[in-house]
Amino acid sequence: MKAYQLSADYLQQKIGDRKPEVAIILGSGLGSLAEVIQDPIYIPYGEIPGFPKSSVHGHKGRLVIGRLGNKEVACMQGRFHVYEGIAPETLQIPIRTLKLIGCDTLLLTNAAGSLNEDMGPGSLMLIEDHINFSGVNPLVGENDDSIGPRFQDMTRAYDPELSDGINEVAKGLNINLFKGVYVWALGPSFETPAEIRMFRTLGADAVGMSTVPETIVARHCGMKVAAISSITNLGAGMSGNSLSHEETLDEGQKAAAELSKLVIAWLES
Ligand code: HPA
Repeated sequence: MKAYQLSADYLQQKIGDRKPEVAIILGSGLGSLAEVIQDPIYIPYGEIPGFPKSSVHGHKGRLVIGRLGNKEVACMQGRFHVYEGIAPETLQIPIRTLKLIGCDTLLLTNAAGSLNEDMGPGSLMLIEDHINFSGVNPLVGENDDSIGPRFQDMTRAYDPELSDGINEVAKGLNINLFKGVYVWALGPSFETPAEIRMFRTLGADAVGMSTVPETIVARHCGMKVAAISSITNLGAGMSGNSLSHEETLDEGQKAAAELSKLVIAWLES
């Protein structure tokens, strides 16, 4: 049996007749949204057969199933990154598992560096498109034709209708929501100033170490995707400061409150 089928079977039996429709993945410093989920069932990743393990500081490493903004959600509090040494194709497992337990929509969040001085730390950016600069792809390997095509279209990877909806909700809440292109840098080292200049030239607006592989896998299995970056810092060399994961977590916490409001109101809409 495939790992994601094992995982989905286990979760199905854990959650009984709960039917999560929306999957949410919370990035660095954004875990607090999972704390306000109602009637939660907590399932540590380590308990789920077939699931990878998460090691990053600031990530809890569990799935939270429950109600948020009147919707049944499955929320990943902590995610998997290729820079942890996890094989890119392993990132198929959590996303396909979420799809198998009923989630047709995926909302991705992340902490990211800004490539635009006007979009400073604490800003939120709706991802409209991405650049995969990692050199790897989670769909490399044998294709399962029952899940999706060998050559996945990525023309409208971030669902325009979902994005419009999030934008409308942000307007209603007076939240300044930037829009832009996210570039996936493999990490775990932060970028050099020269790399940041290159990414700006390439047309990217924010840089981070996640999200893109999850979007690719989700589109391949037919999920609709929306994604929001919480900007924690200006890209390397743009501010004179050096970068640290601690800063990422601190600034993530500040933007987290606004992001939580936005996500809950969006789910209610
Ligand atoms: N670069 C890559 N990933 C990040 C950054 C950054 O500047 N900030 C938060 N995540």
